[in-house]
Amino acid sequence: MLAYLVAGVLFILALRGLSHPTTSREGNRYGMAGMLIAVVTTLVTHMPMKVGDAFNSYAGPDFASLGEILAAIAIGAVIGLVTARRIKMTDMPQLVAAFHSLVGLAAVLVGWAAYLDPAAFGILGGDGLINPVSRVEAGLGIAIGAITFSGSVIAFLKLAGKMSGSPILLPLRHVINLGTLVAILGLVGYFTMDQSLWVIATITVLSFIIGFLLIIPIGGADMPVVVSMLNSYSGWAAAAMGFTLHNSAMIITGALVGSSGAILSYIMCKAMNRGFLSVIAGGFGAEAAASGGAAKEQRPWKQGSADDAAFMLKQAESVIIIPGYGMAVAQAQHALREMGDHLKKEGVSVKYAIHPVAGRMPGHMNVLLAEANVPYDEVFELEDINSEFAQCDVAFIIGANDVVNPAAKTDKSSPIYGMPVFDVDKAKQVFFIKRSMGGVGYAGVDNDVFYMDQTMMLLADAKKMVEDINKALDA
Ligand code: TAP
Repeated sequence: MLAYLVAGVLFILALRGLSHPTTSREGNRYGMAGMLIAVVTTLVTHMPMKVGDAFNSYAGPDFASLGEILAAIAIGAVIGLVTARRIKMTDMPQLVAAFHSLVGLAAVLVGWAAYLDPAAFGILGGDGLINPVSRVEAGLGIAIGAITFSGSVIAFLKLAGKMSGSPILLPLRHVINLGTLVAILGLVGYFTMDQSLWVIATITVLSFIIGFLLIIPIGGADMPVVVSMLNSYSGWAAAAMGFTLHNSAMIITGALVGSSGAILSYIMCKAMNRGFLSVIAGGFGAEAAASGGAAKEQRPWKQGSADDAAFMLKQAESVIIIPGYGMAVAQAQHALREMGDHLKKEGVSVKYAIHPVAGRMPGHMNVLLAEANVPYDEVFELEDINSEFAQCDVAFIIGANDVVNPAAKTDKSSPIYGMPVFDVDKAKQVFFIKRSMGGVGYAGVDNDVFYMDQTMMLLADAKKMVEDINKALDA
């Protein structure tokens, strides 16, 4: 119990560490240590025992099944290690969704194992039936696990582009969803009175279906919230498993993951100015997708070159760099840091402005900039830097789009209306790196910043353009 408590404290320290880039490595180490303690403690205290014979009721630990357990851990570790090494940063959201689906599936399997062999789980009552409290735990664990599983599979397919990211809206979907959820809860209640196979089987099937139904109407722009919401569900599923398995470490960890995921979902909803319930209800972005995005107007715009940009950047006193998804795709962060270093040598003040939903996952830009060794004290959050655009000489937008779109402030019909955005329109000069005028951001809408008098479009791959600017700065 004490070891589990230590593991729990280490998990809390891990979460605290992970909340800031400077302490994130330390946080990771705490998490790894906590997990090691939890796994070893569980193995030692729950060592499977051999069944004794007529002369000896206790025959000692069953090392044969210990071998199976260690083999399973080794296979899982190898898969995890290879996947983590190979995965591209831009594919991280779908990987996270895929991992959540496994947590959900594990919860379903544990629930079913407990149902099929209740004696092994020590959940039999005096009457030889599963005790009612354990039935509720198993029923809820299976339901939450199945919802997490099918929901995460759909989120994975949408994020990986293997399924359309636009919302799929069924008629009467709210009635169907609410009815199914009520039916599941009713069946979990009924399960306490009747532990027949059909009850638990129906709970499982309905939960798989509702996970699917809940996620298909949610559009791509809301996917980050969905991933963190599924993260939260997977935590609660793990906590429910912890109750079934009488494992306090799992209950603690599950509750930590469940609540931190819920808090993150709330913070992201706030960053996108979306109500949590409206995200869950789905349908966001359906109009833009149906009309193929906003119609592009033929308006005049100015194109610049790397030489133009280098010249004007050198003359500036202050430059604010706004990275977005395109910087991640182009892997331009190293070249960008070199550019920043170069400008600082010229006496220019350089700051990086990070939007909470820039890129495709929480902290996406922070991770990339940290990887390129951009000093943390040059990196600012939206609310801390937004007022500085009015005084800055250059807003340097690299692969960002939605997060600088003023339509979010002015156009009530825009799918991103209400999302807080950077006030780049107030900067004296704007450089906007993207590959073409036709490409739109995640929300699929046009951007007035392209057409502003003070905007110069730098159309190229982000890494190539910044490398060219660096060459021009060197020259
Ligand atoms: P976006 O609005 O998605 O814009 C990306 C821009 O990068 C596009 O203008 C694209 O234009 C350009 N681009 C793509 N590849 C490029 C390359 N190789 N070189 C140069 N430019 C390139 O990005 P954002 O401003 O970061 O906004 C994020 C959006 O994603 C928000 O709508 C947010 O809600 C959503 N979202 C966020 C998350 C999280 S948690 N961060 C997760 C999922 C979705 P071209 O095609 O013309 O190059």
